[in-house]
Amino acid sequence: MKGIILAGGAGTRLYPISKIYSKQLTLIYDKPLIYFPLSILMLGGIKEILIISNDETIPFYKKLFGDGSEIGLQINYAVQPAPNGIAESFIIGSGFVGKDSVTLILGDNIFYGKLDFMYNAIKNNTGATVFGYRVNDPERYGIVEFDENGKVLSIEEKPNEPKSNFAVPGLYVYNNDVVEISKNLKPSPRGELEITDVNIEYMKRGQLRVEKIGRGVAWLDTGTPESLLQASNFFGTIEDRQGLKVACIEEIAYYMDFINEKQFKDVIYKMPKCNYRAYLEQVLNNK
Ligand code: TTP
Repeated sequence: MKGIILAGGAGTRLYPISKIYSKQLTLIYDKPLIYFPLSILMLGGIKEILIISNDETIPFYKKLFGDGSEIGLQINYAVQPAPNGIAESFIIGSGFVGKDSVTLILGDNIFYGKLDFMYNAIKNNTGATVFGYRVNDPERYGIVEFDENGKVLSIEEKPNEPKSNFAVPGLYVYNNDVVEISKNLKPSPRGELEITDVNIEYMKRGQLRVEKIGRGVAWLDTGTPESLLQASNFFGTIEDRQGLKVACIEEIAYYMDFINEKQFKDVIYKMPKCNYRAYLEQVLNNK
């Protein structure tokens, strides 16, 4: 299973910082936003990852992660020249995906809590799996309707009369057909290659399933200054209360055995003396 993080976009709602780089570099409490989707892929056991972003931001990501080997990953990079739609990921990333299956996560989607929904999908997916998260305001989202077996009956973008309260978050698990399906898509009236059109094609083939996300999971979206502040407060509160960091990629790499103790020490000792390093030293001493 390969992983793609789509981390470009216009970031219109975060202007003026988006004049300089894409929003996934903004800080959520104590770490860049992109650490959150990256940690989700890592927890799903995915080590080969492609980060797609705009020309201006790719050098910053390279500075952050290099080739990923320090934390046991293989990180590749690709440019999306303009935000032409989420489904373009699979065209840009077709060489990277090769003959594999692939999980795509949007760079501004944060999940926190019990991640069984994702583990199940990665383990059991045969065609496409999307997720369903209950929301109060379904008119604002892509909405999925499904039967008791998780078979999708309909999927609609921002419906006026929603058929359910389950929104589809920016996390998708696909078999290799997604590459061919994306290559055959036509741009929508707003000029984008739509991920919903990919999912509709899987639905027509009878291969689209939905995995319900339980109420114990937080799905946060971080497209506006308000939602960034809320997410920072949320994770600041949790980290302060528990003394445990969320989305700490070095800790996850060690916990998942992507790196051994020596490699973990090498990573730590390269860091300046700071709280982040002190936390990792504590992890090292407690394992
Ligand atoms: P959006 O929130 O739809 O858009 P945006 O990030 O461009 O922000 P704004 O609406 O304020 O202009 O994008 C969702 C995520 O997907 C976000 O992480 C950016 C990313 N994205 C791309 O990288 N390329 C694309 O072509 C699209 C449509 C989104």
